[in-house]
Amino acid sequence: MTAQGPTIQVLFSSEAIAGRIEALAKGVGQLGLQDILIVPILKGSFIFAADLIRAMHRAGLTPEVDFLSLASYGEAERSSGTVRVVRDIESDVRGRSVLIVDDILESGRTLAFAKDLLEQRGATRVLTCVLLDKKVPRSVPFTADFAAFECPNEFVVGYGMDLAHRYRELPFVGRLVRAEGPSGGHDGTNPFSR
Ligand code: IMP
Ligand code: MG
Repeated sequence: MTAQGPTIQVLFSSEAIAGRIEALAKGVGQLGLQDILIVPILKGSFIFAADLIRAMHRAGLTPEVDFLSLASYGEAERSSGTVRVVRDIESDVRGRSVLIVDDILESGRTLAFAKDLLEQRGATRVLTCVLLDKKVPRSVPFTADFAAFECPNEFVVGYGMDLAHRYRELPFVGRLVRAEGPSGGHDGTNPFSR
């Protein structure tokens, strides 16, 4: 938020996020799943997942939690659809209900990869919950079972989501607005263009 840096406009406030999370936790609770394992996809979902599991506690759930760290290769490879496991879960998912939690559903590749992985390992039921469902054509057909918000096709940061490891600490989800002026972008070199 410097004079020449990007401005961040609030898209989803912390209050709006908190309200949706309570509703999502109740929705998961209504499924009546026994022995549920929550699998947040790191890194982007860590704040969302932390708030969601505490809302689940308030909704009377007692989930186990284990973390899966996935990465897409760089921008170029990303379009080739390569997702890799950076850090695997330690839990045995055979015969279990799993809820994968991620920040954003965009092309669908990350969640399709994670869901396939856990189904192949024998999970009985694999559900997905995302904070943001980006309204873009999917590369892989994919629908999340739970989504807090539909998100416009813009680059967003905050509430765990980053641009080059920055902005994760923001308590809201914001859109990056490029600075105007000589060093402000619109020249093809701006890192916010995707
Ligand atoms: P996809 O569904 O495989 O395309 O990937 C979604 C992942 O890309 C998310 O889990 C995020 O980590 C990342 N991502 C997509 N859009 C954004 C964004 O606007 N800001 C930050 N990360 C994003
Ligand atoms: Mg992610």
